[in-house]
Amino acid sequence: MSGRKRLPVVALISGRGTNLQAIIDQARSGELPVEIRAVISNRPDAPGLERARRAGIPAEVVDHRDFPSREAFERALMEAIDRHRPGLVVLAGFMRVLGPAFVAHYRGRMLNIHPSLLPQFRGLRTHERALEAGVREHGASVHFVTEELDGGPVVVQAVVPVLPGDDPERLAARVLEQEHRIYPLAIRWFAEGRLALRDGRAWLDGWPLERPVRIVAGEAAEGQRTAGGEA
Ligand code: GAR
Repeated sequence: MSGRKRLPVVALISGRGTNLQAIIDQARSGELPVEIRAVISNRPDAPGLERARRAGIPAEVVDHRDFPSREAFERALMEAIDRHRPGLVVLAGFMRVLGPAFVAHYRGRMLNIHPSLLPQFRGLRTHERALEAGVREHGASVHFVTEELDGGPVVVQAVVPVLPGDDPERLAARVLEQEHRIYPLAIRWFAEGRLALRDGRAWLDGWPLERPVRIVAGEAAEGQRTAGGEA
């Protein structure tokens, strides 16, 4: 990796941080050309903070409960992030709704992962709701963050079949495994300058994505066709 330019990244978390770990692991192995400059949590007890520390990454807390309003919290969060001058902000299980000023500030340089095949099942309890709805395919989506909650342009989706006998935990575990594949993949595309948000759409390899890149569990990610050619 030495000699190759690494994109500075700040990751925001609220919890256990397994997606963060996948990103840390791929950055370490050299697959992902990013430098994680900081991990910031809104919860002081988030287990993901320890993952950051173990990897030698500055772990910081901006506790939303310390602020009188969402705006004040987000201003402090923005300051904490911008001190590290990231080229990309990665939401990795960050469970606060973000306001318009915050989202506008990071427009085109903030990604989120959501545990459903968007636009299905925005919001919380996605696995329970997928089972209740009786869908046969479920999964996860990486998308650019816009003002609309879980509504920004989707870049890549991992499709996971719903199996007979699935309960929310089993389904969540299979989806999570795929999250750990597609999030580093989308971040790599962004870091390599292949992915951008333009005119409200996600562009990959110089083409607007008509639909998200679809990765099917069990198939090789590198074999997927994209708008611009091989993924
Ligand atoms: C992941 O499943 C992620 O998709 C979800 O939270 C989990 C975090 O797990 N995010 C959202 O629901 C955002 N709306 P992790 O902390 O182990 O990465």
